[in-house]
Amino acid sequence: MTRALDVVILGPPGAGKGTQAKRLAAAFDLLHISTGDMLREEVSKASGLGAEAKGYMDRGDLVPDELVGKMLSKLLHGRRAALGCVYDGYPRTPAQEALLEDVLAELNRRVDVTLYLNVPDKEIVARITGRRSCRACGAIYHVVTQRPKKEGVCDACGAPLTQRDDDREQVVRERLKVYHKHTAPLLELYKSRGILREVDGSAAPDEVFTRLREAMGKVSA
Ligand code: AP5
Repeated sequence: MTRALDVVILGPPGAGKGTQAKRLAAAFDLLHISTGDMLREEVSKASGLGAEAKGYMDRGDLVPDELVGKMLSKLLHGRRAALGCVYDGYPRTPAQEALLEDVLAELNRRVDVTLYLNVPDKEIVARITGRRSCRACGAIYHVVTQRPKKEGVCDACGAPLTQRDDDREQVVRERLKVYHKHTAPLLELYKSRGILREVDGSAAPDEVFTRLREAMGKVSA
């Protein structure tokens, strides 16, 4: 059996992590783990976890490590994660990074590569405020750069497109602050381990995907 491949995709809100993580997961046959999507699903189900997480998400704050860690650990021990995963939006703090390492070590795995999608803050607000997403299948669009064929309707499954509650400009600015304070320091950590690959995320999505594949190629070679 081939060894599992575990790939972290790091970058500011709106860098294109979700867009590219879906493509990478399909190309490398990996499970796409988006803690943001998982939390939004809990919120829409109005579960206990969702009710607890909602206030943090609406303000642009991080949901406490403990809550997110439980979700992640359960998923990683499941069969779907056996071939490896693309982690989109996790880890976001040093404590989350330590938990990910511990859980992977229990499975005789480790993070093989961290892809850093670098996009300047000034591009972020335009990207996020124009984002529309499909709650039914998770597809991501943009009102200018990635328009659906029919306005407001998902190309993939026909469900209506919606705007996320935390995509208002004021909340986006808060999410950026939180990213720089809590998550960006992880870049140094992955760099010191020699597994960080920086990719300029400012180009068109297809070009960014090509760059990410090249960065992945260096790892799997
Ligand atoms: P989460 O859902 O993870 O949000 P995020 O990290 O802020 O990232 P986004 O989903 O906003 O952006 P993205 O980088 O995925 O970009 P996308 O591909 O969509 O988290 C949301 C909240 O949940 C957090 O604030 C927190 O409260 C909580 N949370 C989640 N995980 C947590 C954790 N581990 N710990 C604690 N709390 C947690 O692209 C954005 C837009 O740009 C789209 O419209 C897209 O079409 C467009 N676009 C993409 N690529 C390009 C391109 N190359 N050129 C032009 N436009 C592009």
